[in-house]
Amino acid sequence: MKTPNPQLDGQGNLKHFLTIEGLRREILVEILDRAEGFLGVAKQAVKKVPLCRGKVIANLFFETSTRTRTTFELAAKRLSADVLNLNVSTSATAKGETLLDTLRNLEAMHVDMFVVRHGSSGAAHFIATHAAPHVSVINAGDGRHSHPTQGMLDMFTIRHHKPDFAAIKVAIVGDILHSRVARSQILALNTLGASEVRVIGPRTLIPECAAEALGVRVFHDLLEGIRDVDVVIMLRLQRERMTSALLPSEHEYFQLYGLTEERLAQAHPDAIVMHPGPINRGVEMESQVADGTRSVILEQVTNGIAIRMAVMSMCIGTQNLAGRGEKAPYG
Ligand code: CP
Repeated sequence: MKTPNPQLDGQGNLKHFLTIEGLRREILVEILDRAEGFLGVAKQAVKKVPLCRGKVIANLFFETSTRTRTTFELAAKRLSADVLNLNVSTSATAKGETLLDTLRNLEAMHVDMFVVRHGSSGAAHFIATHAAPHVSVINAGDGRHSHPTQGMLDMFTIRHHKPDFAAIKVAIVGDILHSRVARSQILALNTLGASEVRVIGPRTLIPECAAEALGVRVFHDLLEGIRDVDVVIMLRLQRERMTSALLPSEHEYFQLYGLTEERLAQAHPDAIVMHPGPINRGVEMESQVADGTRSVILEQVTNGIAIRMAVMSMCIGTQNLAGRGEKAPYG
């Protein structure tokens, strides 16, 4: 018998969003379609919908973040939720309080959802396993494992420029070994039926057997790898996760794998350039590309709000509004 996906409730609806792995294409498409309906909220005079009114959402960020933390906060506020932002560096975690004790104390404040970023792979799953039954958990990035809302906002951005996944070739360039973003993107692209997914980088940063198991083509030459692709996704070099000298120098990395206007000419003439941020300019790409006409990097950030609204409303809203037969008041 197939093990039920722990992210889904008894009706097959999303309750937690921990990883893209194991989720059906229909769920990913529902996230993208719901996010489409939320894009317009930013253009309203009052940038809010009442979908999560009365709900309490706690952001627990045990690792640094600019984009993910702020867009989750904005998304929760646009859904009219009450938002708690736990500043871990000034919380009782610094005095030795365990993750579970922090969880129990926040649950005692009637929190309905935890948004969790943590340096350890599996942290969000751990919280979902131990949280009270009514509480939903969203993974905002755990170790090297998964960053599912980033993966989905990237799919949303790609779909806006290239509506047919079956017709696109995507290249992901850089530090695949340490990248939770790459893993989430590959899972989403495969589930949504992308024609071809390539990963490009030095041998030290691509776990070859894992990459092939994920159903991607591996390249070690940038020009060969980006030839004719429709989407080029550059990844950040994750120095903080490198435990040994995997690269000679950032200068040499740029010489071999840095994206320049000249190199980008190898890709399809309409190719878009993406990066999850933060960018190391002059390491992963030159500024002319990051700020150029083919860059959709800031669109990715904007789209992150709509995608996070979609995921949060599905996890909380589906259970608590649709479950009572109420119509979702958006889009
Ligand atoms: N893309 C991303 O996760 O960025 P932050 O680390 O700033 O959240």
